[in-house]
Order: sequence, then C-alpha cells, then structure tokens
Amino acid sequence: MNKITAKKQLSADVYEMVLEAPFIARARKAGQFLIVQIDTNWGERIPLTIADADSTAGTITIVFQTVGASTHRLALKEPGDQVENILGPLGNPTHIEKFGTAVCVGGGIGVAPLFPIVQAMKAAGNNVKVIIGARTRELVIFEDRMRRYADELIVVTDDGSYGKKALVTEPLKELCSGDPKPDMSVAIGPPIMMKFCEKTTAEFDVPIMVSLNTIMIDGTGMCGCCRVTVGGETRFVCVDGPEFDGHKVDFENMMIRMRSYKDREDAEHHKCHIELGLPPLAVSAAPVK
Ligand code: FES
Repeated sequence: MNKITAKKQLSADVYEMVLEAPFIARARKAGQFLIVQIDTNWGERIPLTIADADSTAGTITIVFQTVGASTHRLALKEPGDQVENILGPLGNPTHIEKFGTAVCVGGGIGVAPLFPIVQAMKAAGNNVKVIIGARTRELVIFEDRMRRYADELIVVTDDGSYGKKALVTEPLKELCSGDPKPDMSVAIGPPIMMKFCEKTTAEFDVPIMVSLNTIMIDGTGMCGCCRVTVGGETRFVCVDGPEFDGHKVDFENMMIRMRSYKDREDAEHHKCHIELGLPPLAVSAAPVK
C-alpha cells in the first residue's frame, strides 16, 4: 500500500499526486515508468510515468489525466488515502549524455514525463530548448518548472489562448532549420504528435527519441500487449523501451493497436461516470452493453 501525501488539480482533467514510495524514489531514473493498481490486486493496471521524485522524503510524483474508469477512480482519492500497489521503476532510463543542443518537445500530459528528461539533459551540460504545447491555456502544465531548467522555453497552444498559436511542430521546424541545428531531440505526447515531430526532424536529419505510451498489462515483457514495430522488428515498450529511435518507429501500426479496445474502454468509462455520479458521456461515445 502506498499513501497519497498530496494532490493538486492542474487543469480540468489533469491531476498531480505525490505518493510515498521510498524504494522507487531512490531508484528511479529519467524516462522510467510505474504500473499503478488503485484498489485491489485484480484492478486495472495503469502505466504512468514518474514526473518527479524526492529521495529524501521517499516520495514520487505522478501526473495523470482522467481518460478512463481507473484514472477517474484515482482522481477521487485524497491525501491520506492509499493506493493498493505500485510496481516500478520499470523500463529503461532515457539515454542521457552531453549531445550539445537538445530540443525537448512535450504535448498535453506528455509534458510531465518530459520534465525529468529536461532536468537530466541540463545536468549533463546540454543547451536545452523546451517546447510545450496544449490545446488551450488551461491545459498548459509544468511551465514554471520547465522554465527553471530550460535555456529557452517556447509555449504554444492550438487556439492561441496562451503563448504562440501553433502546433509544437512549428517551433520545432524553426529550431531544426537553424544553424547550427539541434544535436538531439526528444518528443513525448499523443502518438500523432510524436509522429509529426518525427517527420519534422527527419527533414533536417535531426535524431529524435520518442517515449511510447502503448496499452500495457504486466509491464514485464510477458503479455505482449505493448508490442510495437521498430526498425522492422517487434519490440516490447515495457522492457525494450519506453523510448525508441523515433525515425524507426511504425507509428501507423502502433496507433491501430492502441485503438483495439476503444469500444470497451468507452463503455467502461461511461459506466464509471454513472457509478461515480459524474455527468454521463455522449451516447455515441459510450455504447453500454
Ligand atoms: S506490458 Fe506486457 S509485454 Fe509489455
């Protein structure tokens, strides 16, 4: 059992939670993730990236969006409550070295797992340029924290309500077309965003690492749920990743696989809204059976 010590709502559906997990707090490295089970050992296993950790206090920070039944249940927990089980740190740490100039791109909730990478890139002596993007002003997260480590921070929103009105690929293209061009780039966010960041950097022959957030169950390489095609080979995100050379990832195949359980997820999400007394989802998005 892991006790929740703090909870903060970052936007309408994004929460930050601090939990006691002293072993994970000491062992974790940038890029690694956890599998959280909220209530029982038979509950859904939610893969979440570690956004921050305090090894002295023995706590870890997670940031999550209420996208389904389990994340809604997690959001209802309060400081003092416990979660049943946290497995981690899982996956391989980000490959960090002194590349020179590193551009780190985060979209939506992907900005949170990008934060420890930005910290590590800076600590390794890189010139770190950070691009963070969101649909609208209320959804911009971690801006102040990023500003403390970034040599340059660019904020964009889809609707122009804050920062520059643009998608993250626009400033990424500007940086890649500069002289000198970046030595490394990292992108974390929705699959479609990472796909287009890959296309943008490929045009300028800039390397890119992407952190994949596929469906997962065990997180230890046994179930095969998280498999993706990278460089023509099957790889498991949980044990071979979660980060891969973005220029080798088959994003189309990954996005098809990630939609496999969409109908069931929508139905569960809809049932959960009703159970928790939240407004029901639109009927078209929630076929209850
Ligand atoms: S989550 Fe089961 S193999 Fe990766």
